Amino acid sequence: MKKKFDLELSPEVMKQMGEDAIKAVIEHIMHLPESPSFHLEGNEEISRALKESASEDGADFQSLLNFLMQRIIPFSINTPHPSYIAYIPGGGLYASAVADFIGAATNRFTGTWFMTPAAARIENNVLDWFSQWMGYPDSARGIFTSGGSLANFSAVVAARKHIIGDDVAKGTIYASNQTHHCVMKVASLAGIPENNFRLLDVDEDYRAIPELFEKVIKSDLRKGMKPFLIVGNAGTTNTGAIDPLVELADIAKKYGLWYHIDGAYGGFFNICEEGKRKLDGIEQSDSIVLDPHKGLFIPYGSGSLLVKEGELLRRAHILSADYMQDQYTPGDEVNPSEYSPELSRPFRGLRVWLPLKLYGVHAFRENLEEKLYLAKWLYDKIKAEPDFECTSPPDLTVIAFRYRPKKGDINEANRKLYKDIINSKKFYLSTTLLHGDFYLRCCILSFRTHQAQVEEAFKIIREKAAKD
Ligand SMILES: Cc1ncc(COP(=O)(O)O)c(C=O)c1O
Repeated sequence: MKKKFDLELSPEVMKQMGEDAIKAVIEHIMHLPESPSFHLEGNEEISRALKESASEDGADFQSLLNFLMQRIIPFSINTPHPSYIAYIPGGGLYASAVADFIGAATNRFTGTWFMTPAAARIENNVLDWFSQWMGYPDSARGIFTSGGSLANFSAVVAARKHIIGDDVAKGTIYASNQTHHCVMKVASLAGIPENNFRLLDVDEDYRAIPELFEKVIKSDLRKGMKPFLIVGNAGTTNTGAIDPLVELADIAKKYGLWYHIDGAYGGFFNICEEGKRKLDGIEQSDSIVLDPHKGLFIPYGSGSLLVKEGELLRRAHILSADYMQDQYTPGDEVNPSEYSPELSRPFRGLRVWLPLKLYGVHAFRENLEEKLYLAKWLYDKIKAEPDFECTSPPDLTVIAFRYRPKKGDINEANRKLYKDIINSKKFYLSTTLLHGDFYLRCCILSFRTHQAQVEEAFKIIREKAAKD
């Protein structure tokens, strides 16, 4: 049969495509500082207008690239912007994008050690570095995931299998009510009945109250339930609070529960001196989730899970098949698919490995230290304003605060202030509810955010509130 179209491109075309794409991306990155913090006007209509059926005929690359860079990418909340201090930023290192390109273009099968032993090794080197940073022993093993949600999923599954096996009906989980909602979502996907989630009250600083955990565990044991998992937070999403990690570890030990820490946002601060002090006890956990697409500034799509006794992660995920009989792994190596729900997968660790090798760990440590300083700076400034109130000083880099109007409804006033601030398009922050009240919330984590952006954010917050 005569081939109508060869999917393999000529070297010249490949080179041209790469050059055009890189040129467009560099242009985009260079213009980030003066670009608006978001552009979502007419979002529903524009989104709807983009619906289309698959075309039988191809188009030329340059016009597709123009379409992406002009009509798709700008139409969004500008998450890599230096003044994006909403939700949990990261920025998205260019070196990771280059790593993704290399990984995808060479398209090695990284699901098993046998198919790409060297690639598996360098991914596992990165996971070993993470383990060392968290104070885990050599027995630890880990996996790269698409993000914190799926990393938490594998943690819950490992805990469940190890402590209660398949008898899930009475298995109970203990976490503060500030725990990220993905933990409940994945626990539910792991088969734990929703009635068995114990989301416990927090103290005035939004941290878990260990005595309450113990009280509820004891009560559940009396009722014949099967407590199996305590989740501690190394930085909550709402306020950045760090739970009392040592005390939660003690309770987990006392009652024979698995102790998991969600450090998706805050765990990497453990590579800084100040962060390490604050995260004392993280090393006592059985498992930790860390999101490189947050604390290491990698583009979205990078989570990870570490399990102290790596064999327990393996037992929760290993399953073989006849057609896999050729695939072997030597005893001192790690076969990714035995530790993860995935088989075929991208060369995910490369996007973390390349920037770590390129810059060295100290560059990440310094960036994280700078973010801790900036968060404290902003907190002090807002706190000193007579018309504002903040939650407690930031454990890490999240600040929750609100404006106190002289008259009128406080929640309404803060909703309006939020709109006024983001409509300035100078920077982007987010909001949350604390005890049902509306709060503004900044999270400083992008590698592009420095003193100038934080000062400008403070100036705008104050100016907009003064107009009230
Ligand atoms: C503390 C915490 N845990 C888990 C998650 C979920 O991670 P992901 O969005 O990568 O799935 C987040 C996301 O912001 C988070 O802040």
